[in-house]
Amino acid sequence: MNNLLPISSQTATNGQLTIGGISVETLATTYGTPLYVLDHATIAHQVTLYQQGLAEVSPNYLISYACKANLTTGLAHQLNDLGVGFDVVSSGELKTVLKAGVSSNNIVFHGNNKLKPELAFAIENNIRIVVDNQSELEKIHEICTSLQKKASILLRLKPGVDTNTHAYIKTGQADSKFGIDDIYLDQIAEYIRAHSTLNFLGIHAHIGSQITELLPYLELVDVMSHYLKKFQFNYQLPVKELDLGGGFGVAYTKSDAIPNITDYLQKMVSKLILKCKETQVELPKIIVEPGRSLIAQSGVTLYRVGTIKEIPNIKTFVFVDGGMADNMRPALYQSKYTFEVGNRMTTPKTKTYSIAGKYCETGDILAENVPLPEISQEDIIVVAVTGAYNYAMASTYNRVGRPAMVMIKDGKIIELLKRETDEDLLRLDTGD
Ligand code: LLP
Repeated sequence: MNNLLPISSQTATNGQLTIGGISVETLATTYGTPLYVLDHATIAHQVTLYQQGLAEVSPNYLISYACKANLTTGLAHQLNDLGVGFDVVSSGELKTVLKAGVSSNNIVFHGNNKLKPELAFAIENNIRIVVDNQSELEKIHEICTSLQKKASILLRLKPGVDTNTHAYIKTGQADSKFGIDDIYLDQIAEYIRAHSTLNFLGIHAHIGSQITELLPYLELVDVMSHYLKKFQFNYQLPVKELDLGGGFGVAYTKSDAIPNITDYLQKMVSKLILKCKETQVELPKIIVEPGRSLIAQSGVTLYRVGTIKEIPNIKTFVFVDGGMADNMRPALYQSKYTFEVGNRMTTPKTKTYSIAGKYCETGDILAENVPLPEISQEDIIVVAVTGAYNYAMASTYNRVGRPAMVMIKDGKIIELLKRETDEDLLRLDTGD
């Protein structure tokens, strides 16, 4: 089986792709298309890789799922049951994970411009806040004073580590909009020491997303070790929690090299332990914030083929019933994906097609020139590795509702999200 599909995928004798024993035809017919499908077994497997990587080197850790990658209440519930925490970046994400029963102690609140009501809601609910800048620190202090509460904070640092990923998803470099520049740290540390509303927990850095090399992470450990020492000895603010961010890459196509998560983590944490010994700093609790690498491969998107349009001597388009609004990554980042015809898994790939969506834009192309079996109308196109940043970034462009989402767990279907209908789209309109 193609290792980019969810791990419970199989091909039935009739050529149908099944996930957790359920055929994509059944899923597409029951729930309609486009449909996001998540495989619980794959998510559980990825969580285990993280747990193994961390538990062997440091028992005190939190895997904080960056739920911007994909979130519904039911999904949060399932992840909570697997023992992961949550990194949230808005009151919407925060309320979703609280509704799913996640303990405030397992939540980390991020963002470079958190709104005052969001901060107040987080403080009222005792959520850790990762502070992005001095003015946010001042806002937190004011809110704490008026609510007569304390806030537990980490500081987001700018580690100055560059990565070889897409420019839109780099975050650790000097000109990034995220994090505090080293030059401001003395005054920020003084501010924290002077305000008893602020309970300093530690420091955070995130170098970017879809990173497939180990070196930037080892550089990050070097930089953060330097700060552990500085906070403890120069600022008298010992770091109890060190959040190393997320960003581990995944394979979208067979030619992408996949980093071994367990190996990465062991190398990073072993280096950190050594550095802490050298500098006589106590090893803090380690937080990691994977988004994509926990969820991406668990997900596939199913589409129905509506029309096949041949442009003689140029290309043949296959038009599907979704496109850039449910997966904007090809248009935004020129991302490549892997495609299958879900009802013809055993048919040789003798044709070449360009897969285009239904949206009114020439750029609404999911892929150019993909080898596939000969396609007919009503066939099911399956796009692999769409569990992360697909639904999360979906739009209602052209006033088309967003797809439904289901999870397959233990051979059963759990509905996570209903399809957005035309009536749903009209619901918030005012005026005649
Ligand atoms: N922590 C922080 C502070 C982040 O900003 C992010 C992602 C993560 C953790 C999780 O990173 P991951 O493990 O998922 O790489 N829309 C883009 C990705 C944006 C990532 C934003 N921050 C895409 O579709 O590739």
